[in-house]
Amino acid sequence: MLRRPRRNRKSSATRGLIRETRLSVENFVQPLFLVDGSNVKEQIPSLPVASRYSLDHAMDEINACKELGISSFMIFPAIPEELKDRTATYSWAEDNFYLKAIQTIKSQIPEVCLISDVAMDPYSSDGHDGYVEHGKILNDPTLPILQKMAVAQAQAGFDIIGPSDMMDGRVEAIRLALDDNGFDETSIMSYTAKYASAFYGPFRDALDSAPKAGDKKSYQMDPANKNEALIEAELDVQEGADFIMVKPALNYLDIIHSLKSEFETPVAAYHVSGECAMLLAAAEKGWLDLNTAMPETLLSIKRAGADVIITYFARMWAEMQG
Ligand code: PBG
Repeated sequence: MLRRPRRNRKSSATRGLIRETRLSVENFVQPLFLVDGSNVKEQIPSLPVASRYSLDHAMDEINACKELGISSFMIFPAIPEELKDRTATYSWAEDNFYLKAIQTIKSQIPEVCLISDVAMDPYSSDGHDGYVEHGKILNDPTLPILQKMAVAQAQAGFDIIGPSDMMDGRVEAIRLALDDNGFDETSIMSYTAKYASAFYGPFRDALDSAPKAGDKKSYQMDPANKNEALIEAELDVQEGADFIMVKPALNYLDIIHSLKSEFETPVAAYHVSGECAMLLAAAEKGWLDLNTAMPETLLSIKRAGADVIITYFARMWAEMQG
């Protein structure tokens, strides 16, 4: 045999020489769930690697992650039911605890990069990402609501606005609103190819944000489709997205690869709650070894082409490098 691929695998040193993909804390985003109040730290039963934190504990968590080299965070608010309404007015309210918390974090740790979530569902009494009338999720009437939400978030100090709602035209609407209000330096990470997935369950438990009626299939994408992801990406890039995201990650590695091949705009992948929960559950049963299965999973997302990886395991991965 003239060629023996195993020769390059014979030792840790040779394997290291030829390793094609490496994970780095610099590419990770740690998601955090925020609640109002103080001294709250409630583990999410269906996602035991994550908790709902009040601001004081969230700050500790951010500082601990920063020590480990993680500098980007995606922050999601859990809003009490009584503050929800049909038009998500709390999302831009003066006394909104989420916006106030962001101001505090940015004033105390200005170097961290904070990424928001723009969608109506955490604030909506209907639990949908868009405005609902007679059971239908209406596109164009949702856009001004998303604009107000995004401007309020930029004002609070978010570095990157993250529209996750999947309404048509929202990236352009948000870009124009941000620019009109002097936030031309605020970036947009668009949830470009967000699929109507079964893997968001633990996240909806964490925020209590499941739709009250119906499902999200008229706005989130059909898991069967790939061409549609390219259309969404083309629109988002034209509309001014600074990052294009694929979500979830693992069942959509082919989509990550396509977007990375077809577009120059950086690609983010969201390793969602249900994908993390699967690994945690199998590990808890002793069926998988989390310490090897988790890094292998994250590596596959990077190898597929993701520049940015949003994962609930960011901190745990960073701790394992020590
Ligand atoms: C809300 C939103 C969802 C997630 C991020 N933003 C849930 C949904 O669309 O129902 C899911 C993230 C996860 O599962 O980790 N627009």
